[in-house]
Amino acid sequence: MIAGNRPINYLRISVTDRCNFRCMYCVPSSPFAVIPHNKIASYEEILKITRIACELGITKVRITGGEPFVRKGIFSFLERLCNIESLKDISITTNGALLNRKKIKKLTALGIRRLNFSLDTLDPVKFARITGRNRFQHVENAIFAAHELGISPIKINTVILRGINDDEIEDITALTLSYPFQVRFIEYMPMGDSAVEKQQQILTGEIKERIESRFGKLVSIKRTTNDGPAKKFQIENAMGIVGFITPISSHFCSECNRLRLTSRGTLRPCLLNNYEKNILNPLRNDASDDELKQIITNTLSKKPSFHGLMDQVGKGVPISHMTSIGG
Ligand code: 5AD
Ligand code: SF4
Repeated sequence: MIAGNRPINYLRISVTDRCNFRCMYCVPSSPFAVIPHNKIASYEEILKITRIACELGITKVRITGGEPFVRKGIFSFLERLCNIESLKDISITTNGALLNRKKIKKLTALGIRRLNFSLDTLDPVKFARITGRNRFQHVENAIFAAHELGISPIKINTVILRGINDDEIEDITALTLSYPFQVRFIEYMPMGDSAVEKQQQILTGEIKERIESRFGKLVSIKRTTNDGPAKKFQIENAMGIVGFITPISSHFCSECNRLRLTSRGTLRPCLLNNYEKNILNPLRNDASDDELKQIITNTLSKKPSFHGLMDQVGKGVPISHMTSIGG
């Protein structure tokens, strides 16, 4: 599948909008409802949509939430997903709070070798403040268990906010000196009505400067075609990688190779644009495989060339919050 000049081979599947965390930059500050179970795509339905998307050229899948491991039966779903022959690469984005050595072993046994953890601080007290949960030690243990069990790459997604965790930019970066982790600083995206103020946003330029003044010049790592949106660098002689995801300061839309399936069974061509198309209802109403394929290709034809996030925010247009889309 092609959208614009971009070959689309990557499907992000959100298996649930629910999450056991309440991250301040993610969860809306006003009350919100979770989606009732009967409106959530069943595993069977997700697998069917995935198989059809694979026939159209999807070869990579990332499982997201909310928090994917809060959904019941996730391991047997993953097992069935791993049996889809044309899928070459399955990875998961998680907050790590429900993972332990035994569960990570199960993932590796299924052939899942790549995990992205969300971790914004190395301080247990701050962790509780940012996520609303007192789970730092558990998450840290899960990350190191994953490392010991050979999960590679381990990516650590970090959202830096001024006055909250900006004093930890250097310490978090220093993880890459001793471990082969990819620490990725993600610019805070104002979506919906999170508790974060505009002044708390810190852009990549400032973070990079801070890192370079402590660790010396970052060496740029050449991009490969399937690299995703992170711009990657390395501190000299470090084991790991420092990445920057810059949706705000420099959009990467022209390189975006992904399509999203939300837990409500809608397809979204872009995280930062509210266009979406329901594929679950037609599936439940016995649409043929060809009709479903048509829905997927039509949705992709709506993939914008640029997200215009700042325009939408400026006009006060609410963008669906992250838990409902799946990051
Ligand atoms: N801005 C930037 N990143 C966000 N995430 C969640 N909400 C936001 C936001 N508003 C990140 C989390 C997680 C990833 C899936 O998305 O850090 O790692
Ligand atoms: Fe949950 Fe991830 Fe959102 Fe935090 S950022 S509330 S872990 S979905």
